[in-house]
Amino acid sequence: MNNLDNIINFINKVPKAELHLHIEGSLEPELMFKLSKRNKVEIPFKSVEEIKSAYNFKNLDSFLKIYYEGSNVLITEEDFFDLTWEYILRCKNDNIVHTEIFFDPQSHTERGIEFDVVINGINKALKKANSDFGITSKIIMCFLRHLDEDPCFEVLNQALKHKDKIIGVGLDSSEKGNPPQKFKKLFETAIQEGFLTVAHAGEEGPPEYIWDSLNLLKVKRIDHGVQCLRDDKLVETLKQKNIPLTVCPLSNIKLCVFEKLENHNLKKMLDKGLRVMVNSDDPAYFGGYLNKNLIETSKALNLNMVDVRVLIENSFKSSFLDENSKNNWLGKI
Ligand code: HPA
Ligand code: ZN
Repeated sequence: MNNLDNIINFINKVPKAELHLHIEGSLEPELMFKLSKRNKVEIPFKSVEEIKSAYNFKNLDSFLKIYYEGSNVLITEEDFFDLTWEYILRCKNDNIVHTEIFFDPQSHTERGIEFDVVINGINKALKKANSDFGITSKIIMCFLRHLDEDPCFEVLNQALKHKDKIIGVGLDSSEKGNPPQKFKKLFETAIQEGFLTVAHAGEEGPPEYIWDSLNLLKVKRIDHGVQCLRDDKLVETLKQKNIPLTVCPLSNIKLCVFEKLENHNLKKMLDKGLRVMVNSDDPAYFGGYLNKNLIETSKALNLNMVDVRVLIENSFKSSFLDENSKNNWLGKI
């Protein structure tokens, strides 16, 4: 077996954690079509093929428009269960043993879907994942940063009675022009209520948004963070504080953050000693789940076995698992 075959074999077999996955972004065209019929919700596509051919994005905003339209087919608790269960079957296939998933309550509550319908559907599938397959998980609730801070407090309020299910809060949607400081008070309140915090930053936005996520939102992880290399002092701080950066290579190519995978800066980030790992973000829209992200990136950037091992180790080290569970998985890599 040559070196690349060894690496692919390792990626397929090794237990992995995923830390950056929007559950709404795992809505495959086939399920979108099925739910649009089941719920009699119109979507602007006549077939699965037409949906797939619409997935050409020029930036984050052009993707978000289609992503929110797709989410409109999700109505009942059963829909959120089915969505999550399909993702869990992908986890099983990719040997993901632990996953920390985002959901966007506001893209559902704004359409009149109850918060409880969403969280209960997702949670039931995650419980079944644990009992059927031993897959563990955490749920992170994201605020939509293109909206104002005020209505987010109402969402946070709704989450209080689900503290047993939701470990933390995050920030996603349109980054440029929606800086972290817009949500400073909201995140302070969330922390007081016992939620951990994370935020998308430095996907398209500048390094300052990463600084402000650390300093103002007190985040434990930065989602994406690939723009950090534009600021040496920031790189030093991220390293010193061991801040995880949840990088999503295929997403970055689909949204034109980098022109091609060969140009991605993941290897540079690894070589600088940053705590990076690979994730799939919105796999139904970006062309691949976790193993495909790892394999394609390994090929394009010529990663060696040590690089890949570090990426997988970082996925567990950066998770919100307890120390015992982390050490247990780290011992199996
Ligand atoms: N960035 C910001 N918001 C998102 C993303 C993303 O990659 N995916 C889903 N919502
Ligand atoms: Zn994301």
